[in-house]
Amino acid sequence: MKALDDLLGEGVSGRRVLVRADLNVPFDKSDPTIISDDGRIRAVLPTLVALRDAGARVIVCSHLGRPKGAPDPKYTLAPVAERLGELLGNPVIFASDTVGPAASDAVDALLDGQVLLLENLRFNEGETSKDDAVRGAFAGQLAAFAEYYVDDAFGAVHRKHASVYDVPARLPHYAGGLVLREVEVLRRVTESPEQPYVVVLGGSKVSDKLAVIQALLPKVDKLLVGGGMCFTFLKAQGHEVGKSLLESEMIDTCASLLSQADGRIVLPVDVVAASSFAADAAHDVVDISEIPADRLGLDIGPESVALFAEAIGSAKTVFWNGPMGVFELAPFAAGTRGVAEAITKIDGFSVVGGGDSAAAVRTLGIDESGFGHISTGGGASLEYLEGKTLPGLSALES
Ligand code: 3PG
Ligand code: MG
Repeated sequence: MKALDDLLGEGVSGRRVLVRADLNVPFDKSDPTIISDDGRIRAVLPTLVALRDAGARVIVCSHLGRPKGAPDPKYTLAPVAERLGELLGNPVIFASDTVGPAASDAVDALLDGQVLLLENLRFNEGETSKDDAVRGAFAGQLAAFAEYYVDDAFGAVHRKHASVYDVPARLPHYAGGLVLREVEVLRRVTESPEQPYVVVLGGSKVSDKLAVIQALLPKVDKLLVGGGMCFTFLKAQGHEVGKSLLESEMIDTCASLLSQADGRIVLPVDVVAASSFAADAAHDVVDISEIPADRLGLDIGPESVALFAEAIGSAKTVFWNGPMGVFELAPFAAGTRGVAEAITKIDGFSVVGGGDSAAAVRTLGIDESGFGHISTGGGASLEYLEGKTLPGLSALES
């Protein structure tokens, strides 16, 4: 795989370089104009600064959220352009379309050392289309803007999308520093994790994590399960879970995973059960055998945190993906905080995998330097650990 440094070595002054970034940042739930965590923007800065300082004409593209192939003001990248400009210390030019007249004019007017951000890639059906020809046509339009392509969107390398998979087939292509660093860390964790190896999984759905659980079970000493997904496991163990998140069609699968795991899957022993999904809902810590029928579990309880922290404390390698509870609401943040703090204390190597868990770390104000690596990719890091071929990486390799 060629790297950004190779491109810089060739000289990029006056050259148009298309950079695929993952600027899919979360916004404040109560004020949707405020970026609640700009970690993904910061993560790609070194690449943009290096290109800008080398005199390139930098054209940045990204997705934001999941609009349905047409413009949707809810998902505009305009606030991201502004934040990116603040972080770069120079205004970023923003094109109000992705490959239309606004983008094309902005590309033509771009000067050496200037940075342009195109509007959301997913405002175009060609970005995510399953039809190779439709994706290819869109990729052709993007590629026509530039002479070189740099992929630094680690969070999107698991997507077979035009900007990730088809553009590199059309331009000389290079991996950015973020992609290289992420791959190096994940390779280390996948190929030779120092034992004991503990994986902590949270988030809402078992179905999303099934493949990674199956891939990791033979390799881990302990798999700690919290978040919304723990309730389907608890149900499979025979507990009543009230109104908690439940994937009924996954109960049998969870039961079979538990029996295969031979004690290595560790579930919460208590949860915070709330009357509704709200910061001001009535809530109590209850034993998992006593979840009231009219309540839903929104966090793991303190005894579970202690149990998980003990397993984490003895680990030499920890991989964590997915919050333990609804950390965005203060009464349900203690589980995620407790687990995160336990991970920062280990005498070993820890990886925080994912957009959501990384955002949780920063939102909760936990010292980022306590982790070995904080990945910008959730789905991407999980699919890497599953051993899947990631379309964006194979496109850079060929
Ligand atoms: C993410 O947030 O996981 C990445 O930006 C990829 O987004 P996606 O899951 O909508 O493809
Ligand atoms: Mg995602």
